[in-house]
Amino acid sequence: MHDLLIRNAVIALPGGTLLEGDLACTQGRITAIASQITGDGREEIDAEGKLLMPGVIDPQVHFREPGGTDKEDLASGSRAAVRGGVTSFLEMPNCNPATIDQEQMDWKISRGRATSVANFGFFIGATVDNLESLNNVHPACGIKIFMGSSTGSLLVNEEKDLDRIFGNGERLIAVHAEDETRIRERTAQLLGDEETRDYAIHSLIRDAQTALIATERALHLSGKYGRRLHILHLSTAEEVARLRAGKADQVTCEVLPNHLFLNTDDYAVLGSRVQMNPPIRDPQNAEALWAGLHDGVIDIVATDHAPHLLADKEKAYPRSPSGMPGVETSLPLMMTAMREGRCTLTQILRWMCSGPAELYKIANKGKLIEGFDADLALIDIDGYKPVRDEEVFSRTGWSPFSGRSLTGWPTHTIVGGRVVFENGNVRPGVFGQPLSFGS
Ligand code: DOR
Repeated sequence: MHDLLIRNAVIALPGGTLLEGDLACTQGRITAIASQITGDGREEIDAEGKLLMPGVIDPQVHFREPGGTDKEDLASGSRAAVRGGVTSFLEMPNCNPATIDQEQMDWKISRGRATSVANFGFFIGATVDNLESLNNVHPACGIKIFMGSSTGSLLVNEEKDLDRIFGNGERLIAVHAEDETRIRERTAQLLGDEETRDYAIHSLIRDAQTALIATERALHLSGKYGRRLHILHLSTAEEVARLRAGKADQVTCEVLPNHLFLNTDDYAVLGSRVQMNPPIRDPQNAEALWAGLHDGVIDIVATDHAPHLLADKEKAYPRSPSGMPGVETSLPLMMTAMREGRCTLTQILRWMCSGPAELYKIANKGKLIEGFDADLALIDIDGYKPVRDEEVFSRTGWSPFSGRSLTGWPTHTIVGGRVVFENGNVRPGVFGQPLSFGS
């Protein structure tokens, strides 16, 4: 008897082959994939020809616990994740208190175990004086450095501090690459002490050079020490061109749907809802980012799900906070792009499932293979449904993509062989596990 048997699915096998058939899970693992599986399941799902794929691994989210749980917590953020077919997430350390030592990491892991309905991992945040923790706290998926200020208090922008962090230890360093000096200079020049409701100024202040300068610095330090570097949320054509000209083996990078599907024209309608760091850009940047994905300069897709309440977003700039929710819309946005011919299913599986698993050395995830963990998304790629603020699972209750009609919504999301999301509802009693990261 199988624990779970999914019948009549179109199964996305590694390499892009599609198999019409069944998939069985037992004790949290995929135990069989075949055109017809005999025997019964304790639970059976008739997939009715829907696409069965590995659950998405979202390698950059902010779920605000502890310190900002009016906006999100591990329970609400993970529920939003599974609604969008995301079965594992890596969360950033800019909570309050920030995740900068073992005590905080232990606390987060225990909260995750108790409340997260998806699998979870956490970054350790760099400060100017926690070098010891950066390399010794476990389990951490990597070190996060905010080279430019963003939400929260984490910031390391002095050369000597960055040099010390890059020069000590082996762990992957993930950078938010924006140059703090330029942010401060341009804020003083373009805004001074004023406030404004013209939120487009955000993209002018944190311009392409702001991103490029920091990206160059991080690449230089990675090269100097041979240090494993991951550049988070690439947003500009300039960065893509720089990386295309030379990207060492130890360097990887990512892009967000925000920078692929939004641009500076959106400020006119959405105002501060689309204010984020690094900012949304002129439309030609999105084209360059797509090209970077296609030619392999960009390795993976993340969301940078950054929940903020609309009441805060409504404040005048610069008091309006940066960031927007996204964990529950990334897969439908990418599947809709696939249906429009912008990319293939094989590429999506690489960018959102197997790619993040390999990059963060998460074993047994990201592919539908017998013996791999049964983290799955069963999705409808025929029907279209609009994003609606009222239906958003994130505690923030809004999406920058509201009103867009998307396909690729999951009907079922399965974590560790157990159905956790089904036809719009989260089942009680199913929880994720802490992820492990190879060295
Ligand atoms: O816009 C952003 N918001 N960028 C970040 O780097 C942080 C995030 C947040 O936590 O709000």
